[in-house]
Amino acid sequence: MSTLLVVGSIVWSTAKVGISPMPSSRKAREVIIRLMANTGTGPVYDLGSGWGGLVIRLAKKHPDRKIVGYEVSFVPWLVSVFFKKTLGLDNLEIHKKDFLLVDLSGADVLVCFLHTDGMRDVAKKLAAEKISNVFLISNYFALPSCQPETAMLISDFYKSPIYRYRL
Ligand SMILES: C[S@@+](CC[C@H](N)C(=O)[O-])C[C@H]1O[C@@H](n2cnc3c(N)ncnc32)[C@H](O)[C@@H]1O
Repeated sequence: MSTLLVVGSIVWSTAKVGISPMPSSRKAREVIIRLMANTGTGPVYDLGSGWGGLVIRLAKKHPDRKIVGYEVSFVPWLVSVFFKKTLGLDNLEIHKKDFLLVDLSGADVLVCFLHTDGMRDVAKKLAAEKISNVFLISNYFALPSCQPETAMLISDFYKSPIYRYRL
């Protein structure tokens, strides 16, 4: 019964936001960390933090930097909060919220691993709220109508791109 509830909850939120909580691979996380070089020391927001694998890696790597995750899917969010507390990561906050409804102006770096429509929504939000002076690092999916300042390929079978934009 509880397995059904967990699976049902994940399926429901996947249908709602159009993407499952599939984590970035270990190699993708390492490329994201490399692309974060020279982005300052300000807050980093993960738009859709899933099970928390990326935000936990970032919080450990940058103990003096504030790392914030936003996640709508209840079970992955709960698991990520459990690990945050277990690991005592005081520089990490994980909110169960739709990132499209929160103020992103406090971020110095936005990271995401979404999908084509999700990137369109991010682009619309950033433009509508005139958010600038921020880096956006996107795993696999490009930001529409924007030229990345750099891109790196993950050293895996698919050679998937990770883009870094300066907005
Ligand atoms: C592919 S996972 C990526 C997880 C994590 N960022 C990583 O790289 O390992 C995408 C996550 O974004 C979440 N998501 C999608 N749209 C969202 C929204 N508008 N607000 C909050 N979370 C969202 C999904 O629930 C999913 O868990």
